[in-house]
Amino acid sequence: MSGSGADPVVDLRLDRAHSARMYDWYLGGHTNFAADREAAGKVLAVYPAARTAARLTRQLTHRVTRFLAREGMRQFLDIGTGIPTPPNLHEVAQEVRPEARVVYVDNDPIVLAHAAALLRSHTAGRTAYVQADATVPESVLRAPLLHATLDLGEPVALSLNALLHFVTDDGCDRAHAIVECFKSAVPSGSTLAMTHATADLTPTEMARITEIYVRAGTPFQSRSKAEFTRFFDGWELVEPGVVLSHAWRPDGPAEPLPPGADVCYAAVARKP
Ligand SMILES: C[S@@+](CC[C@H](N)C(=O)[O-])C[C@H]1O[C@@H](n2cnc3c(N)ncnc32)[C@H](O)[C@@H]1O
Repeated sequence: MSGSGADPVVDLRLDRAHSARMYDWYLGGHTNFAADREAAGKVLAVYPAARTAARLTRQLTHRVTRFLAREGMRQFLDIGTGIPTPPNLHEVAQEVRPEARVVYVDNDPIVLAHAAALLRSHTAGRTAYVQADATVPESVLRAPLLHATLDLGEPVALSLNALLHFVTDDGCDRAHAIVECFKSAVPSGSTLAMTHATADLTPTEMARITEIYVRAGTPFQSRSKAEFTRFFDGWELVEPGVVLSHAWRPDGPAEPLPPGADVCYAAVARKP
């Protein structure tokens, strides 16, 4: 176990909706408040499959983590962790590799407030929580707790699941620049796993969802398949490449989904 690198005084900003707490509500959690439930309810009204979509994203994280641990990855950097929802990434990784080391990163004070659940590591491994803003990659990459937990000279599994649609480009390709910073900080053999919302299949619903998030004070930008694929430039995509999240190495026969339910692309790539 490590710890969290944050100021104990937190302002939860309960007066406005936040992506982590809305996601918690979609997943059936209890760490959400009136403003979150109101905004999430509006999303559900225009996109009734929102809860299914959140579950598919979460399941994708589990499948990818299990796959990477089985492939030999022992170090994980999970950026945009979310409110702890069992099983958490380290629990999945350490089930395969008890010695796995995991650093969680989020900027939501409520995730920090619940970080204890992320720090219950297998004794053979180690976990840490870093409170930092992913849009300032140096604040993550220079965090002492990160270096106390992970060796950036050895391969690292980067996980940026359901994070980057909360990072708008504002005309300057910001999200891709951020991902490039993280990619360049890790050595050959490292991996990048991502899920990301797209408007490719349900443009009308995604436009309304974007509007609801933005009005609630949370920046939101869906991206096309080409834009998503560009995040992995220079790295080798693992089979099956870029697909909708439910189609990435499913555990069994595909479950029947309501039309348009899966609105997230997923992919994993390896640094040559
Ligand atoms: C939808 S949740 C995804 C949780 C988890 N990765 C998953 O896929 O199940 C998105 C998370 O990203 C976090 N987040 C959003 N913007 C962030 C930023 N700039 N820096 C760090 N975390 C951020 C939110 O607080 C939230 O916990």
